[in-house]
Amino acid sequence: MSPNHPSGASLAPPPPGFGEPLPIQPSPETVALLARRRSASASVLGPPGPSGQEIELLLRLASRVPDHGKLAPWRFILLAGEHKDAWVARLGAIAQTRPDAEKASAALGKAGPSPLCVVIVSRAAPHPKIPEWEQFLSAGAVNMNLLLAAHALGYGANWITDWYSEDAGARALLGVAAGEQITGHIYIGAPAATPLERPRPDLEQLVTVWRAGDQPRPR
Ligand SMILES: Cc1cc2nc3c(=O)[nH]c(=O)nc-3n(C[C@H](O)[C@H](O)[C@H](O)COP(=O)(O)O)c2cc1C
Repeated sequence: MSPNHPSGASLAPPPPGFGEPLPIQPSPETVALLARRRSASASVLGPPGPSGQEIELLLRLASRVPDHGKLAPWRFILLAGEHKDAWVARLGAIAQTRPDAEKASAALGKAGPSPLCVVIVSRAAPHPKIPEWEQFLSAGAVNMNLLLAAHALGYGANWITDWYSEDAGARALLGVAAGEQITGHIYIGAPAATPLERPRPDLEQLVTVWRAGDQPRPR
Protein backbone atom coordinates (compact mmCIF):
# COMPACT_ATOMS: atom_id res chain seq x y z
CA MET A 1 0.00 0.00 0.00
CA SER A 2 1.38 3.42 -0.90
CA PRO A 3 1.63 6.12 1.81
CA ASN A 4 -0.70 8.28 -0.33
CA HIS A 5 -3.34 5.64 -0.15
CA PRO A 6 -4.39 4.82 3.41
CA SER A 7 -6.34 1.63 3.98
CA GLY A 8 -9.98 1.40 2.98
CA ALA A 9 -11.11 1.05 6.57
CA SER A 10 -9.61 4.40 7.59
CA LEU A 11 -10.94 6.18 4.51
CA ALA A 12 -14.64 5.62 4.86
CA PRO A 13 -17.18 5.32 7.64
CA PRO A 14 -18.46 1.78 8.22
CA PRO A 15 -21.50 0.73 6.20
CA PRO A 16 -24.65 2.15 7.83
CA GLY A 17 -26.95 -0.32 9.59
CA PHE A 18 -30.39 -1.02 8.11
CA GLY A 19 -32.77 1.83 8.96
CA GLU A 20 -29.99 4.08 10.27
CA PRO A 21 -30.75 7.78 9.59
CA LEU A 22 -28.53 9.12 6.79
CA PRO A 23 -28.84 12.93 6.82
CA ILE A 24 -28.33 14.80 3.56
CA GLN A 25 -25.35 17.15 3.99
CA PRO A 26 -23.46 19.49 1.65
CA SER A 27 -20.11 18.07 0.55
CA PRO A 28 -17.89 20.73 -1.06
CA GLU A 29 -15.14 18.14 -1.63
CA THR A 30 -17.55 16.00 -3.64
CA VAL A 31 -18.63 19.04 -5.65
CA ALA A 32 -14.97 19.84 -6.39
CA LEU A 33 -14.30 16.23 -7.42
CA LEU A 34 -17.29 16.19 -9.78
CA ALA A 35 -16.39 19.59 -11.24
CA ARG A 36 -12.89 18.48 -12.22
CA ARG A 37 -13.21 14.71 -12.57
CA ARG A 38 -11.55 13.26 -15.65
CA SER A 39 -10.88 9.68 -16.72
CA ALA A 40 -7.21 8.72 -17.12
CA SER A 41 -6.34 6.71 -20.22
CA ALA A 42 -6.07 3.02 -19.29
CA SER A 43 -2.86 2.90 -21.33
CA VAL A 44 -1.04 5.08 -18.77
CA LEU A 45 -2.29 3.37 -15.59
CA GLY A 46 0.44 1.55 -13.67
CA PRO A 47 1.24 0.41 -10.15
CA PRO A 48 0.51 0.96 -7.37
CA GLY A 49 -3.05 -0.25 -7.56
CA PRO A 50 -5.52 -0.32 -4.71
CA SER A 51 -4.74 -2.55 -1.71
CA GLY A 52 -7.05 -5.44 -0.81
CA GLN A 53 -8.87 -3.25 1.74
CA GLU A 54 -9.21 -0.46 -0.79
CA ILE A 55 -10.66 -2.87 -3.35
CA GLU A 56 -13.22 -4.01 -0.77
CA LEU A 57 -14.10 -0.37 -0.13
CA LEU A 58 -14.30 0.44 -3.85
CA LEU A 59 -16.77 -2.39 -4.41
CA ARG A 60 -18.82 -1.39 -1.38
CA LEU A 61 -19.03 2.21 -2.62
CA ALA A 62 -19.72 1.13 -6.21
CA SER A 63 -22.64 -1.00 -5.03
CA ARG A 64 -24.45 1.90 -3.33
CA VAL A 65 -26.50 2.75 -6.40
CA PRO A 66 -30.17 3.32 -7.09
CA ASP A 67 -31.64 -0.07 -7.95
CA HIS A 68 -35.35 -0.28 -8.83
CA GLY A 69 -36.75 -3.36 -7.10
CA LYS A 70 -33.55 -3.96 -5.10
CA LEU A 71 -32.54 -6.66 -7.59
CA ALA A 72 -28.77 -6.00 -7.61
CA PRO A 73 -28.89 -6.87 -11.31
CA TRP A 74 -25.11 -6.80 -11.70
CA ARG A 75 -21.97 -8.52 -10.45
CA PHE A 76 -18.23 -7.93 -10.38
CA ILE A 77 -15.26 -9.88 -11.77
CA LEU A 78 -11.84 -8.84 -10.40
CA LEU A 79 -8.70 -9.14 -12.53
CA ALA A 80 -5.41 -8.38 -10.82
CA GLY A 81 -1.71 -9.23 -10.81
CA GLU A 82 -0.49 -12.31 -12.69
CA HIS A 83 -4.08 -13.41 -13.30
CA LYS A 84 -4.85 -10.14 -15.07
CA ASP A 85 -1.67 -10.62 -17.15
CA ALA A 86 -2.87 -14.14 -18.07
CA TRP A 87 -6.30 -12.74 -19.03
CA VAL A 88 -4.71 -10.18 -21.35
CA ALA A 89 -2.47 -12.90 -22.90
CA ARG A 90 -5.54 -15.11 -23.52
CA LEU A 91 -7.37 -12.12 -25.05
CA GLY A 92 -4.32 -11.63 -27.28
CA ALA A 93 -4.72 -15.19 -28.57
CA ILE A 94 -8.46 -14.65 -29.17
CA ALA A 95 -7.70 -11.37 -30.98
CA GLN A 96 -5.58 -13.31 -33.49
CA THR A 97 -8.59 -15.42 -34.47
CA ARG A 98 -10.76 -12.38 -35.30
CA PRO A 99 -11.23 -10.87 -38.76
CA ASP A 100 -10.05 -7.53 -37.28
CA ALA A 101 -7.02 -9.18 -35.63
CA GLU A 102 -4.69 -6.21 -35.95
CA LYS A 103 -7.16 -3.68 -34.55
CA ALA A 104 -8.29 -6.08 -31.80
CA SER A 105 -4.67 -6.73 -30.72
CA ALA A 106 -3.91 -3.00 -30.71
CA ALA A 107 -6.92 -2.34 -28.46
CA LEU A 108 -5.32 -4.56 -25.82
CA GLY A 109 -2.74 -1.84 -25.30
CA LYS A 110 -5.32 -0.38 -22.93
CA ALA A 111 -6.01 -3.68 -21.15
CA GLY A 112 -2.45 -4.54 -20.16
CA PRO A 113 -0.90 -1.77 -18.09
CA SER A 114 -3.20 -1.23 -15.08
CA PRO A 115 -2.73 -3.30 -11.93
CA LEU A 116 -6.49 -3.81 -11.50
CA CYS A 117 -9.50 -4.25 -13.75
CA VAL A 118 -13.02 -4.59 -12.37
CA VAL A 119 -15.47 -6.04 -14.86
CA ILE A 120 -19.08 -5.04 -14.21
CA VAL A 121 -21.52 -7.60 -15.57
CA SER A 122 -25.21 -6.86 -15.94
CA ARG A 123 -27.50 -9.68 -14.81
CA ALA A 124 -30.58 -7.89 -16.14
CA ALA A 125 -33.39 -10.35 -16.80
CA PRO A 126 -37.11 -10.22 -17.54
CA HIS A 127 -39.03 -9.18 -14.42
CA PRO A 128 -42.74 -8.72 -13.81
CA LYS A 129 -42.34 -5.06 -12.72
CA ILE A 130 -38.87 -3.75 -13.56
CA PRO A 131 -38.00 -3.37 -17.26
CA GLU A 132 -34.63 -4.72 -18.30
CA TRP A 133 -33.46 -1.29 -19.49
CA GLU A 134 -33.89 0.06 -15.96
CA GLN A 135 -31.74 -2.80 -14.69
CA PHE A 136 -29.05 -1.86 -17.26
CA LEU A 137 -29.16 1.71 -15.97
CA SER A 138 -28.42 0.45 -12.46
CA ALA A 139 -25.34 -1.38 -13.81
CA GLY A 140 -24.31 1.85 -15.55
CA ALA A 141 -24.59 3.62 -12.21
CA VAL A 142 -22.30 0.99 -10.66
CA ASN A 143 -19.68 1.70 -13.33
CA MET A 144 -19.89 5.44 -12.68
CA ASN A 145 -19.83 5.03 -8.90
CA LEU A 146 -16.73 2.86 -9.17
CA LEU A 147 -15.03 5.40 -11.42
CA LEU A 148 -15.82 8.17 -8.91
CA ALA A 149 -14.79 6.08 -5.91
CA ALA A 150 -11.45 5.25 -7.57
CA HIS A 151 -10.86 8.96 -8.25
CA ALA A 152 -11.83 9.81 -4.66
CA LEU A 153 -9.19 7.35 -3.41
CA GLY A 154 -6.61 9.07 -5.61
CA TYR A 155 -6.44 6.56 -8.46
CA GLY A 156 -6.83 7.06 -12.18
CA ALA A 157 -9.64 5.04 -13.72
CA ASN A 158 -11.03 4.39 -17.19
CA TRP A 159 -14.34 2.81 -18.32
CA ILE A 160 -13.78 0.63 -21.38
CA THR A 161 -16.03 -1.86 -23.15
CA ASP A 162 -14.19 -2.62 -26.43
CA TRP A 163 -14.47 -5.81 -28.53
CA TYR A 164 -13.83 -8.16 -25.62
CA SER A 165 -17.15 -7.15 -24.01
CA GLU A 166 -19.02 -8.73 -26.92
CA ASP A 167 -16.67 -11.42 -28.26
CA ALA A 168 -18.02 -14.92 -27.49
CA GLY A 169 -14.57 -16.33 -26.63
CA ALA A 170 -13.69 -13.38 -24.40
CA ARG A 171 -17.02 -13.65 -22.60
CA ALA A 172 -16.52 -17.41 -22.07
CA LEU A 173 -13.03 -16.74 -20.71
CA LEU A 174 -14.61 -14.78 -17.83
CA GLY A 175 -17.60 -17.08 -17.39
CA VAL A 176 -20.13 -14.51 -18.59
CA ALA A 177 -23.44 -16.34 -19.09
CA ALA A 178 -25.59 -16.09 -22.24
CA GLY A 179 -28.12 -13.70 -20.65
CA GLU A 180 -25.47 -11.48 -19.08
CA GLN A 181 -23.82 -8.39 -20.55
CA ILE A 182 -20.42 -6.86 -19.79
CA THR A 183 -21.22 -3.20 -19.13
CA GLY A 184 -17.67 -2.07 -18.49
CA HIS A 185 -14.10 -2.88 -17.65
CA ILE A 186 -12.98 -0.30 -15.10
CA TYR A 187 -9.20 -0.11 -15.25
CA ILE A 188 -7.69 1.34 -12.07
CA GLY A 189 -4.15 2.39 -11.18
CA ALA A 190 -1.72 5.26 -10.79
CA PRO A 191 -1.72 7.50 -13.91
CA ALA A 192 1.73 8.11 -15.41
CA ALA A 193 0.36 11.20 -17.20
CA THR A 194 -2.01 13.88 -15.96
CA PRO A 195 -5.26 13.81 -17.94
CA LEU A 196 -6.12 17.00 -19.83
CA GLU A 197 -9.59 18.46 -20.03
CA ARG A 198 -11.60 17.32 -23.06
CA PRO A 199 -14.45 19.13 -24.85
CA ARG A 200 -17.65 19.04 -22.81
CA PRO A 201 -21.24 19.16 -24.07
CA ASP A 202 -22.85 22.56 -24.63
CA LEU A 203 -25.74 22.54 -22.18
CA GLU A 204 -27.42 25.36 -24.15
CA GLN A 205 -28.04 22.74 -26.84
CA LEU A 206 -29.28 20.09 -24.46
CA VAL A 207 -31.49 21.78 -21.88
CA THR A 208 -35.12 22.74 -22.30
CA VAL A 209 -37.25 24.27 -19.58
CA TRP A 210 -40.81 23.00 -19.89
CA ARG A 211 -43.50 25.54 -19.02
CA ALA A 212 -47.22 24.90 -18.69
CA GLY A 213 -48.96 26.30 -21.76
CA ASP A 214 -45.92 25.89 -24.07
CA GLN A 215 -46.45 23.84 -27.20
CA PRO A 216 -43.73 21.20 -26.82
CA ARG A 217 -41.84 20.43 -30.03
CA PRO A 218 -39.00 18.01 -30.67
CA ARG A 219 -35.58 19.69 -30.83
C1 LIG B 1 -20.18 2.54 -21.72
C2 LIG B 1 -18.88 3.15 -22.11
C3 LIG B 1 -17.97 2.40 -22.84
C4 LIG B 1 -16.76 2.96 -23.25
N1 LIG B 1 -15.90 2.17 -23.95
C5 LIG B 1 -14.74 2.70 -24.41
C6 LIG B 1 -13.84 1.91 -25.16
O1 LIG B 1 -14.09 0.75 -25.44
N2 LIG B 1 -12.69 2.49 -25.60
C7 LIG B 1 -12.39 3.80 -25.30
O2 LIG B 1 -11.33 4.27 -25.72
N3 LIG B 1 -13.22 4.57 -24.57
C8 LIG B 1 -14.39 4.05 -24.11
N4 LIG B 1 -15.26 4.82 -23.38
C9 LIG B 1 -14.93 6.22 -23.14
C10 LIG B 1 -13.91 6.37 -22.05
O3 LIG B 1 -14.44 5.95 -20.81
C11 LIG B 1 -13.45 7.82 -22.03
O4 LIG B 1 -12.13 7.81 -21.66
C12 LIG B 1 -14.20 8.72 -21.15
O5 LIG B 1 -15.53 8.85 -21.59
C13 LIG B 1 -13.53 10.10 -21.08
O6 LIG B 1 -14.38 11.00 -20.49
P1 LIG B 1 -14.26 11.51 -18.97
O7 LIG B 1 -12.89 12.02 -18.76
O8 LIG B 1 -15.31 12.57 -18.86
O9 LIG B 1 -14.57 10.34 -18.08
C14 LIG B 1 -16.46 4.30 -22.92
C15 LIG B 1 -17.36 5.05 -22.17
C16 LIG B 1 -18.56 4.49 -21.77
C17 LIG B 1 -19.53 5.32 -20.95
